[in-house]
Amino acid sequence: PETGCLSIVVLGASGDLAKKKTFPALFNLYRQGFLPSDEVYIFGYARTKISDDELRNRIRGFLVDNKAASSKHSDDVVKFLQLIKYVSGSYDSEEGFQRLDKEISEHEISKNSREGSSRRLFYLALPPSVYPSVCKLIRNYCMNKSDLGGWTRIVVEKPFGRDLESAEKLSAQIGDLFDEPQIYRIDHYLGKELVQNLLVLRFANRFFLPLWNRDNIANVQIVFREDFGTEGRGGYFDEYGIIRDIIQNHLLQVFCLVAMEKPVSLKPEHIRDEKVKVLQSVLPIEDEEVVLGQYEGYRDDSTVPDNSNTPTFATMVLRIHNERWEGVPFILKAGKALNSRKAEIRVQFKDVPGDIYKCQKQGRNEFVIRLQPSEAMYMKLTVKQPGLEMSTVQSELDLSYRQRYQEVVIPEAYERLILDTIRGDQQHFVRRDELKAAWEIFTPILHRIDNGEFKPIPYQPGSRGPGEADELLEKAGYVQTHGYIWIPPTL
Ligand code: BG6
Repeated sequence: PETGCLSIVVLGASGDLAKKKTFPALFNLYRQGFLPSDEVYIFGYARTKISDDELRNRIRGFLVDNKAASSKHSDDVVKFLQLIKYVSGSYDSEEGFQRLDKEISEHEISKNSREGSSRRLFYLALPPSVYPSVCKLIRNYCMNKSDLGGWTRIVVEKPFGRDLESAEKLSAQIGDLFDEPQIYRIDHYLGKELVQNLLVLRFANRFFLPLWNRDNIANVQIVFREDFGTEGRGGYFDEYGIIRDIIQNHLLQVFCLVAMEKPVSLKPEHIRDEKVKVLQSVLPIEDEEVVLGQYEGYRDDSTVPDNSNTPTFATMVLRIHNERWEGVPFILKAGKALNSRKAEIRVQFKDVPGDIYKCQKQGRNEFVIRLQPSEAMYMKLTVKQPGLEMSTVQSELDLSYRQRYQEVVIPEAYERLILDTIRGDQQHFVRRDELKAAWEIFTPILHRIDNGEFKPIPYQPGSRGPGEADELLEKAGYVQTHGYIWIPPTL
């Protein structure tokens, strides 16, 4: 691995994303020895005029994990906070970024008495409206010092635009300033343990190879459910809606990994090439295969307009025009304020041909990958009811992570992805052409929703969402198993 000075700059340091995700992820990396204090320095940059200590105090509370709050942990917190320096300035001021560069350079000079290197990671925990000006200022004033070697990388997070056109514009603006290998478009779903497992599962197991196609699979569901509403984020959310917030990015990334062909190798570019290919094979979404919902009470939020047409729930069917998947519906479903919180992939197999157990059969085979909570994968299958009777019952082969990997702490998505950016591995980041293909799929329907041509159906908070979504599922060929429910094992 590379050594030498590493400067991590968190722009938007006093914002929500930085406090809740970025700094805690950095802290966890620090605690595990990935950010050695003789190499690393962390800079927070934001407009608010506060001191180093004030920033540290604001962050501190988010670093303490009650379960693990040992004295070792609090020692680590103290040492970690000492690595953070705050610089205040605006997002369009040359002077601010010149000062930031000076601070970074001073640190590099002092640390580089031993060894030359200037690695600079800029994490933009900022609204995308300021990406262009911030990127320009970084480019003009804050690039790594070439005589020291190293690199400059920037990490950006969605929303990358609102539709194809605005996303392409943003990509072009950033692309004029940085090369693709310097740009890390984060989608934190790609950092989740079971999402990272998808390619291993699919391509390292003989089991799945012959089954993973239209001959055997009846339908695939990729589901995201939250049991709370847009609390406190109504203003942001109303601008975007559930398709832009969850489906176009998080669920579509999962979709790519489930549906793509085998990459030539594990090189990031080979993997991303296959993701682009499958996205380009997606057919235009049909109106009859979309159900939108908005939970009752959503508009009560003072930051949401009274006549908002923004969906907080959507179920839609994607169809892939290729040899493997022709005719197999991929049902993407996401909703806020529903009756449960979970994210899962559910692959439903076709009925057994010439089934001699048909009259007793409990349901179809399903392979379920539960992303969260309680990471697990399980296969639903029919077995003989244990005992004297000769009847069948639905059961499961279950790999529950908490039970099987008791000693393993599953890392947070952001932690893993930030480590990838330091190591220069872009496999789990979204490439520019991938982003474009993703927007191509959803832009037509998004425009119709924005124009008020497509209306969400109201649903009760705490429910399953609009009943029409279940009807759509059934129409798409999903057969629900009644009377069987998988319960995550408890220890
Ligand atoms: C974010 C969305 O990207 O993902 C939020 O903006 C959503 O609306 C969140 O709540 C869900 O992430 P996770 O990791 O809790 O499933």
